Amino acid sequence: MPLDVIVLAAGLGKRMRSALPKVLHPLGGRPLLAYVLDTARELGARKTAVVHGHGADAVRSAFASTDAHWVLQAEQLGTGHAVQQALPFVGNDAQVLILYGDVPLVRTATLKRLLDAAGEGVAIITAELDDPRGYGRIVRDRAGRVERIVEEKDAGAAERAIREINAGLMALPGRRLGGWLAAIGNRNAQKEYYLTDVVSLALRDGVAVNAVKVEDAMEVAGVNSKRELALLERALQRRHAERLLEEGVSLADPARLDVRGTLACGADVAIDVNCVFEGRVALGSRVRIGANCVVRNVTIGDDSEVLPFSHLEDSEIGARCRVGPYARLRPGASLADEVHIGNFVEVKASRLGRASKANHLSYIGDAELGARVNVGAGTITCNYDGAAKHRTIIEDDCFIGSDATLVAPVRIARGSYIGAGSTINKDTPAGQLTLARARQVSIPGWKPPKKS
Ligand code: UD1
Ligand code: CA
Repeated sequence: MPLDVIVLAAGLGKRMRSALPKVLHPLGGRPLLAYVLDTARELGARKTAVVHGHGADAVRSAFASTDAHWVLQAEQLGTGHAVQQALPFVGNDAQVLILYGDVPLVRTATLKRLLDAAGEGVAIITAELDDPRGYGRIVRDRAGRVERIVEEKDAGAAERAIREINAGLMALPGRRLGGWLAAIGNRNAQKEYYLTDVVSLALRDGVAVNAVKVEDAMEVAGVNSKRELALLERALQRRHAERLLEEGVSLADPARLDVRGTLACGADVAIDVNCVFEGRVALGSRVRIGANCVVRNVTIGDDSEVLPFSHLEDSEIGARCRVGPYARLRPGASLADEVHIGNFVEVKASRLGRASKANHLSYIGDAELGARVNVGAGTITCNYDGAAKHRTIIEDDCFIGSDATLVAPVRIARGSYIGAGSTINKDTPAGQLTLARARQVSIPGWKPPKKS
């Protein structure tokens, strides 16, 4: 049976107290809705329809490249009404899965169990919660079969005491859905069209309703407030940490790691505390990351080490490199093998050849360094003349003395030595020492000024 997915995402999310539509709030660096759309894709959905309303333009433009169908629910009259808006996209031949845009951490495996449990009928996801407040409760008959779902606001005291809750996610047969939705009314405490009424309608029609109970309450947890968003963030990060530990990565503290994207690790990688990984990060074998590093869209080769407090972005680092502490790699930094970048060195849009070193206090921007170049402390490439950026070329085996300023465009030829403190604005000849600075003089008979 083909699978059609309907994602409910029209709600305002008033309790978020934010101008941003709820499903755009980031979890692990990505909007909530992105997780749900990924899930639909992983399940092999034929069609996915997203019912949206609040912040419609913002939501659509945040997902401009999705192939999902956008269904506008101008007025939020309830979950049943929301599903009805998406009905034209649902095939009669399909199994229909209802997901919530604000329930991002449900596992694909759980949803497969849900689809299996539904078969030709209906299935819902439930969980036993210590604190079931706010959720719809599952009412079962004496034989333990699901009888109906009662919303908290419509529930009596006995029903409110039930701890088994409705997660909201549901699987149903496409060919029955339209009829059931048409039969749902809004005579309830909230004057809403409740999708949950489908359960009693199905049973009335002799269609089986099965429940899949999940153990991990985080799978079915929705985001209604910043507090819940923070709880889910920790749950997501715990999942990342557990996966990494399982893969053999050493984490100094699994609770002090943040992955906002994908982190792929080779063998025997070690990550110290408080590191943030964003976008796509790939670490080779035996890479060590020191404490308090921020690493975004970076590949690091085998046996390299990043020392604490380094900030690395859109860069490539080869094997056996040493970067940091306090290093900054900006977009386009590309380090060959065995490169050393030390404290307070900033590298932008530059390549450094094998075994080159800039160990202290430098700016290397728009530059091309060959192999075995030694960049002395305080060296600056002056890449910007106030109007345009220019390149600095430093060929193999050059030695740049401390505090040199290299005024681009300029080429330091192979094996050049540059005297400390030089300002170099003309190309240098290979293999020679070039100095460009005032000669040191001492004034005989000079007296310090006297205070009057
Ligand atoms: C719903 C369920 C409840 C369940 C709970 C789980 C119903 C009637 N109740 O309650 O049994 O325990 O979810 O979280 O279904 N939405 C729309 N359009 C609407 C209304 C809602 O798109 O008109 C979307 C919301 O954006 C949200 C989802 O549907 O993603 C659930 O809506 P919400 O208002 O949170 O439902 P609850 O009342 O919490
Ligand atoms: Ca809710």
